[in-house]
Amino acid sequence: MATFKHDVLIIGSGAAGLTVALHQPGDSRVAVLSKGDLTSASTYYAQGGVAAVLEEGDSIESHIRDTHEAGAGLCHEETVRFTVEKGPEAIRWLIQQGVEFTEEEGGEADDAGAPRYHLTREGGHSHRRVIHVADATGLAISGALIDQVRERDNVELFEHRVAVDLIIHGTGADRRCVGAYVHNRQTGTTDVFLARAVVLATGGASKAYLYTSNPDVATGDGVAMAWRAGCRVANMEFMQFHPTCLYHPKAKSFLITEAIRGEGGQLQLPDGRRFMQHFHPRAELAPRDVVARAIDHEMKRLGLDCVYLDISHKPADFILHHFPTVYAKCLQLGLDITRDPIPVVPAAHYTCGGLITNLDGQTDIAGLYAIGETAFTGLHGANRMASNSLLECFVFGQTASLHIAGQRDRRPLPESVPEWDESRVTDSDEDVVISHNWDELRRFMWDYVGIVRTEKRLQRALHRVELLKREIAEYYSNYSISNDLLELRNLVVVAELIIRCALSRKESRGLHYMRDYPEPLPEARDTILEPGRSAEHRAPSAETQM
Ligand code: FAD
Ligand code: SIN
Repeated sequence: MATFKHDVLIIGSGAAGLTVALHQPGDSRVAVLSKGDLTSASTYYAQGGVAAVLEEGDSIESHIRDTHEAGAGLCHEETVRFTVEKGPEAIRWLIQQGVEFTEEEGGEADDAGAPRYHLTREGGHSHRRVIHVADATGLAISGALIDQVRERDNVELFEHRVAVDLIIHGTGADRRCVGAYVHNRQTGTTDVFLARAVVLATGGASKAYLYTSNPDVATGDGVAMAWRAGCRVANMEFMQFHPTCLYHPKAKSFLITEAIRGEGGQLQLPDGRRFMQHFHPRAELAPRDVVARAIDHEMKRLGLDCVYLDISHKPADFILHHFPTVYAKCLQLGLDITRDPIPVVPAAHYTCGGLITNLDGQTDIAGLYAIGETAFTGLHGANRMASNSLLECFVFGQTASLHIAGQRDRRPLPESVPEWDESRVTDSDEDVVISHNWDELRRFMWDYVGIVRTEKRLQRALHRVELLKREIAEYYSNYSISNDLLELRNLVVVAELIIRCALSRKESRGLHYMRDYPEPLPEARDTILEPGRSAEHRAPSAETQM
């Protein structure tokens, strides 16, 4: 077992983790961990873009209003304003890092000589305000930030490392997070990483569901680790289902960007009829929860395997220019989107809830921060508006990093921490248990805790998750760890948090639709879970914050 010491340990190499790393001063020794290579993150797959107010005619107030409306009354005003106001600065920073956003075709530079960028539109936005790099924004952003971080002498990158559990030191007022046990997937060893500040930037938990747009790493590890260490979580019931993932036997988790609808794409039934106008005045550009539920409704009503998204009425060169990634992927599968409608279904996409943090990204435990999809800042309310999540990563990545740099906790790191003990475990000859439990969990989450919920289905899911939890705990204490086992151990925790939050919300709001309670309650309240206590509900005010 090796011990590594740094000033800051960042667990995650997506938009949130890399932003924190890049804002650290040069004399701060930083470690960045990634479960796979540095691109194994949702960030890499982001298509649509980043929302920010960038054009005359748009306004901060309008972006704030749209965010609140999409969030169904549950967004925290202070957080929304804080984030939206910092949006333009975050975009300037990305441009400085080398992100080459798509420019307006034939557009002239502005008076200061800066290019004019093309802004697309997505669901919930009343204005064009999504800056993008064609339909591969995440690829471009990851590329630029990874290039930058590789240049930094103070940042060490550790790939194929899985954080297992946080190391908490001290008691009472001295209790703080000082690092993590980290499993090296290549050597099979488990090492100790010590640091004065630890940042959880581990992304979301959509792999709790059978069908998802997310990459395999999205197993809610940060939430599960911090929960085990004693942090509160909020609003885990608000799992967002993206309305349009490609429906094709050979396409694993491929998203069809909402920007296609933003540029005129129409949702259709198999006979070519549109249907979204029956569900919302903004039709295809209604907030995501409305569109996903409408598709689900039509699929169940008509017994369909999928619905269709059609952009073929637009000129072929427009489609190729704006959506080259979607075009190429579909063509590989024999679908020409300049002529054919695209078969689509909803899939789990984004975790709106997470670890409760304040505006500096601090969690309930001193020295422990959470940023990006792992965190609950209050920005997204009951339904995240499209392209607000990357924005959140950049805004909170910067403020948390500055906070960490400003704190400069000089307390010495502990001389020793308990060693990772593998003396009582053996290698498993029963790996089938892991894959079986994994499949079972993701299937009942899909069937019972999906787009439309009932009290009875949630109770069923709770019952099953409790059984699985016991089985996995037993397995974990007897056998050597592997990445699959660690992910399953975290997924079962996160699944339970989602179910418990969902069961405690006796209303329908945003992404949480309960057949037993089809209307929202008069007052919007966050669901707060604290280890060892039952769920509480609080108004979305400063009270949720520390
Ligand atoms: P991620 O980018 O997911 O990074 C998580 C990191 O943590 C990874 O490096 C992972 O390897 C690491 N990690 C996880 N667990 C561990 C562990 N135990 N130990 C070590 N490392 C660990 N949002 C937008 O705003 N605009 C978009 O256009 C957009 N498009 C999207 C398209 C797709 C297909 C998907 C899946 C999401 C999209 N989103 C979009 C959402 C957005 O991409 C994510 O919310 C955002 O990228 C999350 O960034 P993050 O840094 O928090 O997490
Ligand atoms: C998309 O491009 O449709 C994804 C945008 C998002 O999730 O914010």
